[in-house]
Amino acid sequence: MISNKDNPYWNKFYSKKELVHKPSSFALSIVDELTKGKKLLELGCGNGRDSFFFDQNGIKVIALDLSKDAIAINKLKKSNVNFIEKDFTNIKLDEYLNIDYVYSRFSLHSIEKKDYLRTIEWVSKQLKKSGKFFIEARTVNDPLFGKGEKMADDAYVDTHYRRFFRIKEVMKELKTLGFEITHSSENYTDSWYKDDHAVVMRIICEKK
Ligand SMILES: C[S@@+](CC[C@H](N)C(=O)[O-])C[C@H]1O[C@@H](n2cnc3c(N)ncnc32)[C@H](O)[C@@H]1O
Repeated sequence: MISNKDNPYWNKFYSKKELVHKPSSFALSIVDELTKGKKLLELGCGNGRDSFFFDQNGIKVIALDLSKDAIAINKLKKSNVNFIEKDFTNIKLDEYLNIDYVYSRFSLHSIEKKDYLRTIEWVSKQLKKSGKFFIEARTVNDPLFGKGEKMADDAYVDTHYRRFFRIKEVMKELKTLGFEITHSSENYTDSWYKDDHAVVMRIICEKK
């Protein structure tokens, strides 16, 4: 079931011409940790900037997004990426098999807490042993925190819904699910875009 109320926002966003197509600094920073031929599932791929990049680096990519328009536009470009219109918070167990990596950039902060918890639990069950989960998302120290209408703890809607993370909480949640954290950081230099000086956490963890 597709339930995200922000879907019209993202459809409009991806129909615009002026989008960043080069890979994100997060993708550039992790690509050397990936092994060619292994399978990566991307949660919330948007215009596919990172999916295309991983594909060009020999990774098998399945890329999910709720935005019909984003997926349709991405499919027009030549690549080996399997783009699928799909709500990543509602994936059945064994719907995608043999996943070596799960990658989420700026998508886990787009969803409500209960959906986030269900998603990370799904990742913990579906990722192969020693598989890696890569996360980049905004934190409560982001300048956008507190802007717009408050929807829940740490969650606001301005142009669209964002729930800002507390890195220590996330690390605890991941450890409880059996992940070992191999990298964690929070800073404001990793993901700046124009005047959006995002403060982000980056977490890399391994399924034990
Ligand atoms: C801020 S964009 C990030 C896109 C891309 N990862 C990037 O870094 O450029 C967030 C994306 O998550 C997608 N999204 C949000 N909730 C989703 C859900 N429940 N299932 C699938 N995609 C979702 C939106 O459609 C949007 O494309």
